[in-house]
Amino acid sequence: MRRALYGAEGFYLRERPDRHFRTSVHASPVFAEAVARLLARVDAALGRPDPVDFVDMGSGNGLLAARVLAAAPPGLAERLRVTAVDLSPRPGGLDPRVAWEREVPYGVTGLVVANEWLDNVPLDVAEMTPDGPRLVLVDTSTGEERPGPAPRPEDLAWLERWWPLRSPGERAEIGRPRDEAWASVIGRLARGTAVAVDYAHLAGRRPPLGTVTGYRDGSVVPPVPDGSCDITAHVALDACAAAGERAGARASTLITQREALLDLGVTGARPPLTLASADPAGYVRALSRAGQEAELIDPAGLGGFGWLSQTVTLSDSSPRMM
Ligand SMILES: C[S@@+](CC[C@H](N)C(=O)[O-])C[C@H]1O[C@@H](n2cnc3c(N)ncnc32)[C@H](O)[C@@H]1O
Repeated sequence: MRRALYGAEGFYLRERPDRHFRTSVHASPVFAEAVARLLARVDAALGRPDPVDFVDMGSGNGLLAARVLAAAPPGLAERLRVTAVDLSPRPGGLDPRVAWEREVPYGVTGLVVANEWLDNVPLDVAEMTPDGPRLVLVDTSTGEERPGPAPRPEDLAWLERWWPLRSPGERAEIGRPRDEAWASVIGRLARGTAVAVDYAHLAGRRPPLGTVTGYRDGSVVPPVPDGSCDITAHVALDACAAAGERAGARASTLITQREALLDLGVTGARPPLTLASADPAGYVRALSRAGQEAELIDPAGLGGFGWLSQTVTLSDSSPRMM
């Protein structure tokens, strides 16, 4: 999966994700506007530092970074430093004020948002067999699968804690690399908040056969790690939360995107019918916006995503060695 997505010929080094699937960022500018409101809250809680950071982790084509920059209110915009982080090359045409990096910089003071990043952090799949859990090996030319060796002790420990396998045939996705990836983001926050937004599942309600899926050109395809398609798996955000806390985060919340966006003023409310006669064009615009909001908070779709939000304060960060 690592080579298929990020190797020399890897999918993400060749392709921009928006050609293959639609995230909240691409669904509507309303998402970035809500993130800009969250940034303003974080900025106020931090005492309006100069500079204040916004980091778009796993940025894809940089759209969230560019839109948050455009939506920042006066008073914040002048102090705002925006960084998009991705392994792919900087997209042409991106606002020159957006820095493009391969890693989250150390000492971020502000807000980091990772929208649909962790589901693309490579992981291994284990299947329960009569001899215990075995890694699933995949032939990259045919997609054929066979049982491999037992997972490493640290992965077995992760499975036992977060996704225990009980019956033969059950599968689990070993989320330890995601925990480590998330902890490394928390470790780079000097002060502020990091939010991971993703398809998620929680202990006790994991899908018994796993979630690994392939996407190409907008369609679901077999998840063969040959570099020709995106490969994604839902995220054990509760395990990431625990890893973030071990890395120094406090004040964790894990809610749905619907709850998070409602709190940020995205309600999906339709405009009053009286507007239709008073301002027909304004009514059509408001109706279209209501439709976009409704898509972002739909509990059966994007609204069902998990929002893990973790905060690092000065007293948390000061004793840590990074
Ligand atoms: C599904 S796309 C999401 C793009 C964008 N955030 C959006 O919502 O449209 C995931 C992105 O994460 C990037 N990515 C994966 N692992 C990364 C890493 N370790 N560091 C930086 N970027 C990474 C990939 O290159 C890809 O562009």
